Amino acid sequence: MTRPRILITRPWPKAAEDDLRRRYDVTVNEGGPLDKAALIQAMHDYDALASTVTDKLDAEVFATPDARVRMVGNFGVGYEHIDVKAARAAGIRVSNTPDVLTDATADIALLLMLMTSRRAGEGERQVRSNGWKGWGTTHLMGQSLQGKTLGLIGFGRIGRATAHRAHAALGMKIAYHNRRRVDPELEGPLGATYVDRVEDLIETADVLSLHCPGGAETRHLINAERLKTMKPTAILINTARGSVVNEADLAQALRDNVIAAAGLDVYEAEPKVHADLLGLENVVLLPHLGSATVETRVKMGLRVCANIDRFFAGEPLIDPVA
Ligand code: 8YV
Repeated sequence: MTRPRILITRPWPKAAEDDLRRRYDVTVNEGGPLDKAALIQAMHDYDALASTVTDKLDAEVFATPDARVRMVGNFGVGYEHIDVKAARAAGIRVSNTPDVLTDATADIALLLMLMTSRRAGEGERQVRSNGWKGWGTTHLMGQSLQGKTLGLIGFGRIGRATAHRAHAALGMKIAYHNRRRVDPELEGPLGATYVDRVEDLIETADVLSLHCPGGAETRHLINAERLKTMKPTAILINTARGSVVNEADLAQALRDNVIAAAGLDVYEAEPKVHADLLGLENVVLLPHLGSATVETRVKMGLRVCANIDRFFAGEPLIDPVA
């Protein structure tokens, strides 16, 4: 019996690739991100795609005539790069990888909170450039986070894991806005307060951390107008999607000290970062590291494998998106 053909669009950690190879005829694209022509070709050549965030799977790709692909197992939890409606219309199943990257991404949110509040990026640059003149009583003073309010926009798995870390390790108060209020059992241990209007959360947070999905609904949720309503001492953290923040507006706000600082792991046009941000001291810029631990990336790959197995066994997907 011939084994289904699967394309892994970007290399995975070996342990996860090996797992898939045991049961399928696997090809790994060792080159960079696939462009539209390559994705359309892949729709003809494979039974399933193991895609990721850099693959723009839009309506045109899903409308490929005589496509062979029947399933897309996305390596990653976010799937705004996949036109789910078009996939459904084409009868193609889609899965993602929730749960396994929750802790890793929450760690990065906390890292950014600490780096921004304690001016770690500035300090590191100072040391490396031989600019450090020695210990000083007022040298690079940051802000303490103890007792301050962490406002989270989006209170799903990653938002709650971030809140847990900030509350338990830093003694922060937790407030959140979400499409709907979560079960009080999830709020209780965090002492979390639900804020009905996102505007109210933005105005009152000392640290505002974004944990909502990307896509049209949340595009530029944080813009010049909203930045103006934040506390001048506030810090913005984005580990969600670059599209949620208007990067030009943020750069302007940071330059004009409308807010104190920002910590970013994601960008509007990755891997491009708005040129105005690059020269600013009060922003920490990470290259989309949210899930980037060996342990997590292996688990993400294995989760894609598990969904693909379900599909080819004719069983319900573990993480169905379409
Ligand atoms: C992934 C992420 O590593 O899972 C997501 O949605 O943002 C990242 O942590 C990346 O998107 C690969 O799919």
